[in-house]
Amino acid sequence: MASAGDPPTGPRDAADQNFDYMFKLLLIGNSSVGKTSFLFRYADDSFTPAFVSTVGIDFKDTAGQERYRTITTAYYRGAMGFLLMYDVANQESFTAVQDWATQIKTYSWDNAQVILVGNKCDLEDERVVPAEDGRRLAEDLGFEFFEASAKENINVKQVFERLVDVICEKMNESLEPSSSPGSNGKGPALGDTPPPQPSGCSC
Ligand code: GTP
Ligand code: MG
Repeated sequence: MASAGDPPTGPRDAADQNFDYMFKLLLIGNSSVGKTSFLFRYADDSFTPAFVSTVGIDFKDTAGQERYRTITTAYYRGAMGFLLMYDVANQESFTAVQDWATQIKTYSWDNAQVILVGNKCDLEDERVVPAEDGRRLAEDLGFEFFEASAKENINVKQVFERLVDVICEKMNESLEPSSSPGSNGKGPALGDTPPPQPSGCSC
């Protein structure tokens, strides 16, 4: 039974440890670009060369296969950040970035932050997407950009940390008391999804 001091309810789950904020982040992009591998590298510091395509969806990780698209978009709501991933050795996955970006804009919270990630940068010999093209596309879309490798553990931690940083920056911006006195202090831009219980961001 909940004691008087317990928080009301909330989506705290298995990782119910000490934390100040809980953000919902999603990894999206075509099938096989490396979303699951990237998450495993970050969460577990592990990598497996076998390809087991994600069926359905799991926490923070989505399925890139077309047939799961309707389920996937249902998860966009309430996500505060996205890692939009392509594979630098797969042109089709890069071409699809535009469509994924449109999906984000259509289905997600207006202030959701997005980082474009060109994964598998260890595959230099098989590269078909120059880093410069990725950077330019990210700039056009208004996203930040990283190349990374889940396999070689390049930029994995940095990408997640940067995403959390930009979310925190955005939260602080929205919380700045620039709005008129007597307003709720939340600022005008928070949209329909409440951010996690902010009391000032320490990250
Ligand atoms: P779906 O679940 O179908 O959407 O695919 P996914 O994006 O989750 O891809 P997944 O992580 O399963 O990786 C697909 C394949 O790419 C696997 O064989 C991985 O081992 C491989 N892979 C993932 N990241 C890298 C990387 O950084 N470098 C290289 N060389 N291979 C990678
Ligand atoms: Mg997967």
